[in-house]
Amino acid sequence: MSGLAGSGVDLTGRVALVTGAANGIGRATAEVLAQRGATVLLSDLSGAGQQVAEEINAAGGTAHFLAGDVTDRAYLGQLVEYLTTEHGHLHALVNNAGILRLADSFELTTDAQFDQMIAVNLRAVFDLSRLCLPLLKAAQGAAIVNTASMVGHQLGMPSHAVYGASKAAVVGLSRTMALELAPFKITVNCVAPGVVATNLFVDQFLQSHTREELNAGSSAVVAAIPNGAYAVPAQIAEVITFLASPAADYVTGQTILIDGGYASQ
Ligand SMILES: NC(=O)c1ccc[n+]([C@@H]2O[C@H](COP(=O)([O-])OP(=O)(O)OC[C@H]3O[C@@H](n4cnc5c(N)ncnc54)[C@H](O)[C@@H]3O)[C@@H](O)[C@H]2O)c1
Repeated sequence: MSGLAGSGVDLTGRVALVTGAANGIGRATAEVLAQRGATVLLSDLSGAGQQVAEEINAAGGTAHFLAGDVTDRAYLGQLVEYLTTEHGHLHALVNNAGILRLADSFELTTDAQFDQMIAVNLRAVFDLSRLCLPLLKAAQGAAIVNTASMVGHQLGMPSHAVYGASKAAVVGLSRTMALELAPFKITVNCVAPGVVATNLFVDQFLQSHTREELNAGSSAVVAAIPNGAYAVPAQIAEVITFLASPAADYVTGQTILIDGGYASQ
């Protein structure tokens, strides 16, 4: 034994791509991956991703940002082209970009809401994973981590019908991808967060409710979480980073709930 000085997950020399990296869970994931030594390509619709990349670089990490929409295949092609030119391989693909379009009920969900959520939450995961496959194979040991949700995977939630369906579909897609990609030493796993303090829900909720209603609802939700608090993005990012690392190279086809105990009740 060479000593007990452990360093946790070391991603030095590895290349990662994170979608939805301008905010919330994706931003935290890009930061943690970079802290552990990975070179990170950030992808997001929002130009705020540029600032995140600059902050990572200023802190001593290595990050680059490319703005675009994950439902635009031409943009996905640009991400792959950048990685091919700059690195020639990809060790970790984190399909994290996602949207929530709240509807009063499944009956009142519009066609547009259905199509948007399926396009971003499911189709883009399929498209980008497929496009990145040559780069992932070239890494000779790689990981895909998809951000699913407690909703859909573990339980239903009013107003979240299609959102839950899109996330359950990602879990199903990931299981078969895990089987098909295991021979190439590519793992495929999901994280299924519970309630995380990000804009995803808050922005949507405030379109049709007041801040007071949000706070009242929030207290009730927090009271129902055994841990007693919402997750913060870094708590999801740590699990994603582990699944994206060589330390988890025998873990595949799994969906890890990160819900403070909510779904265990
Ligand atoms: N916040 C929660 O409670 C929660 C719970 C379970 C799962 N999730 C999932 O976590 C993931 C991250 O969500 P978050 O909570 O950090 O939300 P967020 O809104 O803070 O971040 C999502 C990011 O994705 C980007 N994005 C959205 N559509 C895009 C598109 N078409 N192309 C490129 N980028 C796009 C947004 O610009 C944003 O930066 C999502 O997949 C979400 O469904 C969130």
